[in-house]
Amino acid sequence: MLILGLETSCDETGVALYDTERGLLAQALHSQVAMHAEYGGVVPELASRDHIRRAPRLIRRVLDEVGLSLQDLDAVAYTQGPGLAGALLVGAGLASGLAFALAIPAIPVHHLEGHLLSPMLSEPRPEFPFVALLVSGGHTQLMRVDGVGRYTLLGETLDDAAGEAFDKTAQLLGLPYPGGPAVAQLATHGDPYKHRLPRPMLASGNLDFSFAGLKTAALTLYNRLGPGSAADIAASFQLAVVDVLAEKALAALDATGLERLVVAGGVGANQALRARLKAEAQRHGFALFYPPLALCTDNGAMIAYAGALRLAEGLTDGSFGVRPRWDLEELAPVSAAAAT
Ligand code: KG4
Ligand code: ZN
Repeated sequence: MLILGLETSCDETGVALYDTERGLLAQALHSQVAMHAEYGGVVPELASRDHIRRAPRLIRRVLDEVGLSLQDLDAVAYTQGPGLAGALLVGAGLASGLAFALAIPAIPVHHLEGHLLSPMLSEPRPEFPFVALLVSGGHTQLMRVDGVGRYTLLGETLDDAAGEAFDKTAQLLGLPYPGGPAVAQLATHGDPYKHRLPRPMLASGNLDFSFAGLKTAALTLYNRLGPGSAADIAASFQLAVVDVLAEKALAALDATGLERLVVAGGVGANQALRARLKAEAQRHGFALFYPPLALCTDNGAMIAYAGALRLAEGLTDGSFGVRPRWDLEELAPVSAAAAT
């Protein structure tokens, strides 16, 4: 079965071809980062228009790359939500149009399920059950994953997401959007122990997070010390975020008794976080899994893959729609079957 995946929930147009026998065949991505940069964040209207411009060309590119045509597709998976309504509609509209014209199913996919399952696109694949640390621009969650579609929320952020905290801190330090890579880069020139920033919720006794106060603490420091302190603040901020994410992930493994940790979402690309979790994994003896680095941030491959798993279970009701707000726990369960 050949599945085309379309990701258009935010500021990346992601397209990929996943074959249930042969695995990921091709993928293409257009990032709108440069277009949104001058506004300091994503402009939804511009995002939607750009997805419309890019997506058809990217589909053509991946098909050409592997010498296949639209007629070879067995299904089209698209991100149904959560995300920007207009941007989601582009993917949903395109997928539905293609599915209608080709008389094949359109498969709606939850964006976070895509992130969550993306580590299964690389070897070694994590086996169920595992704890997932989902850290993106819009979400920070710890989930217990017992199978495809069987997700239990263990804890989440009460305010800003980890990626959002990186983005906002970048902005106040005068760095470009998206802030994660920019703060991480600046942090390599700073001393992470120069300033002791707060570790919000570390002693909360639960698995929830909060990052809004940390960003404010960084701002207060920056206003007091000036631009010369930016690298040290970036490094101290990053260390505080990494500390909290690592400690809470350890607590989640402890609470569930599980021995596998899967890290997904854009912040999962952060090297300081990776180094810290690697050290913790060695110390505590749990197994650690990531998607390939290029699949940490938004992409079409994770949508095609999640769509393949859903298709294998016949979970394609043909309904059309987008769900800008959508909790992962509301998903119908699917067993991890044939598509692998
Ligand atoms: O998963 P993603 O591509 O999109 C969402 O679904 O949100 O995540 C994007 C987020 C942004 O906030 C970005 O600043 C952050 O991931 N990010 C990083 C890094 N690369 C991307 N944060 C920290 N360090 C990085 N290297
Ligand atoms: Zn994402």
